[in-house]
Amino acid sequence: EKPISVGLLGLGTVGSGVVKIIENHQDKLRHQVGCPVKIKKVLVRDLYKERSVKIDTHLLTTDVNEVIHDPEIDVVIEVMGGVEETRRYLLNALRNGKHVVTANKDLMALYGSELLAVASENHCDLFYEASVAGGIPILRSLVDGLASDRITKMMGIVNGTTNFILTKMSKYGAPYEEVLAEAQALGYAEADPTSDVEGLDAARKMAILARLGFSMNIDLDDVQVKGITGITEEDLNYSKRLGYTMKLIGIAHRDGDKVEVSVQPTLLPDSHPLASVNDEYNAVYVYGEAVGETMFYGPGAGSLPTATAVVSDLVAVMKNMRLGVNGRSAVTPQYPKRLKSPCE
Ligand code: NAP
Ligand code: HSE
Repeated sequence: EKPISVGLLGLGTVGSGVVKIIENHQDKLRHQVGCPVKIKKVLVRDLYKERSVKIDTHLLTTDVNEVIHDPEIDVVIEVMGGVEETRRYLLNALRNGKHVVTANKDLMALYGSELLAVASENHCDLFYEASVAGGIPILRSLVDGLASDRITKMMGIVNGTTNFILTKMSKYGAPYEEVLAEAQALGYAEADPTSDVEGLDAARKMAILARLGFSMNIDLDDVQVKGITGITEEDLNYSKRLGYTMKLIGIAHRDGDKVEVSVQPTLLPDSHPLASVNDEYNAVYVYGEAVGETMFYGPGAGSLPTATAVVSDLVAVMKNMRLGVNGRSAVTPQYPKRLKSPCE
């Protein structure tokens, strides 16, 4: 029985979770796709670093070509982060006929259209469920679950680090620097946490959600962003006394052809459903004209929750391989900003 061979780019917080899920859920994976899954190579920066997961050290490499040019590797999973270098690696991988799964919202927000086009030209899948809201299957819910509806509004908490910080500061009066360090130690924060606390990570996720939810090309520049660095303990105490909770909220709103996307700290009444989303948890409210109000909730960051989304994408790729339909189910519809009916 020939296994599906996976090349992993990165073995940090998310990569370690991917290795654990592939190992621990091998029976479930095999049952769904009819063959075993094997990790063939893993790209890292430091071969000698102590790892939080057991791995055969012979699998580790610092040479990306050993992954993206290995003819036996079917699927490349990118969980290393970064933009320009990573974009080059993934373009090469796709041109070499590798299917790609990525958790990288920075890359998908900036170069998603290019990568998806190259994937489709090469009959490859490119899936990125883990890039938004960690373990919550929100992208497939928008694209498949709500495929028949016209979505007009999305609103949510899509950054785990800032939600963790605001929760700990307002509930326990913990100092900002201390809680940020805790979020980093728990693996929630980005390698450079500026993108978390300045709202850029949430902006990238809102751009991806708006693209998929509204089927429009939304540029990152279209998103208005304000982070949480200006929020003080006094602000949080004062709002608490008035019965409000401060959250970093992303909003995407469509009114006809007009779209507005923003991220900013927002005071919510304590009774608001998003006010009780705490710690690293995320929640996304989606309003569709036919379905009405829906709400998706779950862990927005962290090793195993994020890796669940990554490995579920891997399963989707493998199911497509079995059916011979890779490259036909790209999760991003590429419509211009103004929607056209399919009959036009
Ligand atoms: P991380 O813990 O910093 O791990 C990054 C891994 O990639 C490390 O193993 C590192 O190697 C390797 N790496 C980085 N740059 C490299 C390079 N130039 N060449 C070779 N190896 C390189 O990061 P992470 O938290 O797992 O995040 C990875 C990606 O997932 C990012 O795009 C992030 O935005 C996204 N994501 C993260 C989360 C989360 O909760 N952490 C959730 C959703 C999405 P060494 O180990 O040798 O240093
Ligand atoms: N740094 C991100 C967050 C990781 O805190 O939400 C998940 O995308």
